[in-house]
Amino acid sequence: MTTTLLHQSPADVATPLLVVFVTDTASPAPGIKDSPAAPTLLTTNAAIQTAATPWLTSGDFKATLGETFLLPAPTGLKAQRLLLIGLGKADKLTPHELRKAAGVAIRFARPRTLRTLALTLPEHPLLPPGPCIRAIAEGAILADFDIDFYRADRKDLSIESLTVLTPTPITDALQTAFNEGVIVAESQNFARTLINEPGNILTPTELGKRTAAMAAEFNLACEVHSIEKILELKMGAFASVTQGSPQPPALIVLRYEPPTPPPANAPVIGLVGKGITFDTGGISIKPAADMDKMKYDMAGAASMIASMRAIAQLKPNVRVLCVICSCENMPDGHAFKPGDVVTAMSGKTIEIMNTDAEGRLVLADGLHYAQTLGATHLINAATLTGAIGTALGQINAGLFSNNDETTGKFFSAAWNAGEKFWQMPCTDDYRDQIKSQIADILNSTGSRYGGATTAAMFLKEFVGDTPWIHLDIAAVTWLDDAKPWQSKGPSGVAIRTITEWIRSYAS
Ligand code: BES
Ligand code: ZN
Ligand code: ZN
Repeated sequence: MTTTLLHQSPADVATPLLVVFVTDTASPAPGIKDSPAAPTLLTTNAAIQTAATPWLTSGDFKATLGETFLLPAPTGLKAQRLLLIGLGKADKLTPHELRKAAGVAIRFARPRTLRTLALTLPEHPLLPPGPCIRAIAEGAILADFDIDFYRADRKDLSIESLTVLTPTPITDALQTAFNEGVIVAESQNFARTLINEPGNILTPTELGKRTAAMAAEFNLACEVHSIEKILELKMGAFASVTQGSPQPPALIVLRYEPPTPPPANAPVIGLVGKGITFDTGGISIKPAADMDKMKYDMAGAASMIASMRAIAQLKPNVRVLCVICSCENMPDGHAFKPGDVVTAMSGKTIEIMNTDAEGRLVLADGLHYAQTLGATHLINAATLTGAIGTALGQINAGLFSNNDETTGKFFSAAWNAGEKFWQMPCTDDYRDQIKSQIADILNSTGSRYGGATTAAMFLKEFVGDTPWIHLDIAAVTWLDDAKPWQSKGPSGVAIRTITEWIRSYAS
């Protein structure tokens, strides 16, 4: 999709589809019961007002969020069609509604094979132009993603060109906001493509190849290490998970160096991703139902690799490194077993209670390794536990941390990015859950209670005092049903927020 920001009157744009946003002002005006307010067009353009106003007062269109109303051949406009898209209640407007509504525009155009469209930037006191332009770019690019890559009857419905029309001249700040939206959303789609790949195609080796190709394209330093290096580093926890699979593991390291070298004591951000390209559960094998979903057990890795892709283009003045531990979790004769004791890179011994709690094992070594490479701040993302879905459902990802300051920065980044995270407990009160009789810690307990926190407590053992955030994205990584602005399948959650959070450390 080519994306253009253009300062032009929407009435003068010859396009198959012109989109204008509308708010639902149906909430009664103060003091007047059942005031008959009609939806409001968020453009001052007179020609659009003339074409659309009769339909706004007709009651045909309520302008609820994502609702659409098409006016073919509108008089007074050069566009062939005028599409009204609702943003919902006027008093609750944020750029996040616009991100969704821009996605609705794309998913309206695609099945109608309209390849080109123009969106009118809304004019409203609650909608600052910069964040809105960015949200539109993001929403549009994210909505143009679909999952049917392996279907012979796949129709390429992708949008060729999107123009966003601004009522005011385009400043550098507006153009930058637009470009940033494009970079971040394209990176999010890059992750979604990886997450969507089946386990037989996206093996750890293939993940390494695709990461290396991305790194070469965007000038990131990249190393892909094999089992020899994993053993040399004494990553006994990671090595135990991979040993039941014939597929070689991959330890991937990416590095971003800013154009101006930051001072020696400046923060170094370490991203760590769980890259299990298929999780059978190992010897503690999973039930058959839904096991196919375990191809997406590398979504944490994909989100970190994609965040690096965005950072390489946004070029913030902060050092960032990324460690991905990728392997399969399979149950063959060489597989690790419940009762085994393994030694992590940090030197801690771990008693394996359940081989299906493998994500925390690979992350333990990844988190430790990132610190030895110089990370002063850590973040990891992982499809770690089913329990996080029991606790939070499929709306919020779980956030666990040992540091309030970095958590605060993360939550403000999340708000700007329009993503939802909910903080879960990770205090030492919960440490008993991972006490072992024969080793330093257990990799899981028998108890179902607080399972997501148990996993977080395990990871916490490997971060020391380094400020750290753990995102459990297990329940929000895969969308079972499409939304009007989003295809079903991989969501690519957390990339926008992680990227913003990293930028908050730039000097
Ligand atoms: N990959 C799974 C977690 C998962 C579940 C991801 C559902 C996405 C959707 C993880 O490796 C796992 O199996 N966790 C176990 C931990 C348990 C054995 C302590 C779980 O959640 O059941
Ligand atoms: Zn598992
Ligand atoms: Zn897993």
